[in-house]
Amino acid sequence: MRLGDKVVVITGAGAGMGRAMASRFAKEGAKLVVGEIDQARLDEVVAEVQAAGGTITGHVGNVAQKDDAEKLVQAAIDTYGKLDVLVNNAGVMDNFEGVANFSDAQYQRVFGVNVYGPMVLSGAAVRFMKEHGGGSIINVASAAGVGGASAGAIYTASKHAVIGLTRNTAFTYAPNGIRCNAIVAGAVNTSIGTSMDPSKFDQEAFARYSTYHAITPGQLQSEDIANLALFLASDESKMINGALVAADAGWTSA
Ligand SMILES: NC(=O)c1ccc[n+]([C@@H]2O[C@H](COP(=O)([O-])OP(=O)(O)OC[C@H]3O[C@@H](n4cnc5c(N)ncnc54)[C@H](O)[C@@H]3O)[C@@H](O)[C@H]2O)c1
Repeated sequence: MRLGDKVVVITGAGAGMGRAMASRFAKEGAKLVVGEIDQARLDEVVAEVQAAGGTITGHVGNVAQKDDAEKLVQAAIDTYGKLDVLVNNAGVMDNFEGVANFSDAQYQRVFGVNVYGPMVLSGAAVRFMKEHGGGSIINVASAAGVGGASAGAIYTASKHAVIGLTRNTAFTYAPNGIRCNAIVAGAVNTSIGTSMDPSKFDQEAFARYSTYHAITPGQLQSEDIANLALFLASDESKMINGALVAADAGWTSA
């Protein structure tokens, strides 16, 4: 088993990529602690993994709230005695607002989930991993983390921030055996659309981004991202640190 006995925290595991990771990781022997803001989705993923014989505990909460975020790392330590892998997966989209039309409320919402949450969780994970032989942190970034053409100003800035957090964490804690890598996800068939409000789209900016969306070489499935995350979580990637690994069908090569 590729993750035999590894203890893994995954945020936003009730849908999309996080759910695919939970399912795949459990089949590879991981013991899971999953976080999710939506109780019904959380119940679904816990039931699904348990029905398949996996080991999982679920915690409802908001990664943008410090206590909720830190509790996930503590739950892994309390439940299974350790933490080997953290996947900062939970994320929300903006409404394709160009900077001319951004709002403070949208900024706080998107940066809270996409940037503050991963910083708090990474901090808690690193404090444990430093003293216990290291670990692997995986941040789910985006084509919007390496380019400016796929989303609004807030989401784009938030995913660029995730790339910076990834590189800084990798460099700072490499001597402690802690790896931190980012998945540059392309267009993936998930429920992330539910975090947007089409009635509030910045239509002019959206039309501009649509020119880049039109050249997407192919849409991915959540399992395609889970496959890459599995590799980055496992010891097979033990010398990969601070990397931005694209799973995007070649989109960001444009
Ligand atoms: N779908 C895409 O095309 C795409 C592309 C690039 C990057 N991403 C990124 O991939 C990650 C996963 O997104 P997805 O597409 O699977 O979306 P999704 O909406 O299908 O799944 C995300 C899950 O996170 C949960 N969540 C949202 N806010 C939360 C919070 N504050 N605390 C805890 N849980 C929360 C949601 O309820 C949902 O179950 C995100 O970081 C997203 O930005 C998505």
